Amino acid sequence: MAVVLLISGPNLNLLGTRQPEIYGTDTLDDCVADARTAAEAHGHTLEHVWSNHEGDLVDAVQSARGRCAAVVINPGAYTHSSYALADALAAYDGVKVELHLSNPAAREEWRRRSVVAPCVTGTVAGFGRAGYRLAVEAAVGALA
Ligand code: DQA
Repeated sequence: MAVVLLISGPNLNLLGTRQPEIYGTDTLDDCVADARTAAEAHGHTLEHVWSNHEGDLVDAVQSARGRCAAVVINPGAYTHSSYALADALAAYDGVKVELHLSNPAAREEWRRRSVVAPCVTGTVAGFGRAGYRLAVEAAVGALA
């Protein structure tokens, strides 16, 4: 049995009421519940960390080293700016899935570049709440 760490970045606590035309009306709790159900269906456990703060997200990635088999991370807007998060992910050698509810590649110019993308195993984007299940299934499927 492995531990999958789901990490949620800034403003994702507002899911449900935040720009529902883009992010839907489901809450972060709904999304985490789907991720947990997917992990447990494969006999694994899921932990969740949410923070608005960049350093907290770096701490969360570091906490996975040697402890969690996979990290699923929706870094929010830090996706596009955080070299610290990219470095933390590069230093983590488990399976890493970058996750987005929306498809940033189809949105504003500044969202089209992910600085963490080169440091992850793969990305799930554009599938809304279903992405949480898909990302966990991708992570679990990639475990050795
Ligand atoms: C997001 C996309 C980011 O560009 C944005 O800053 C977010 C949410 C998504 O899940 O679609 O906060 O990561």
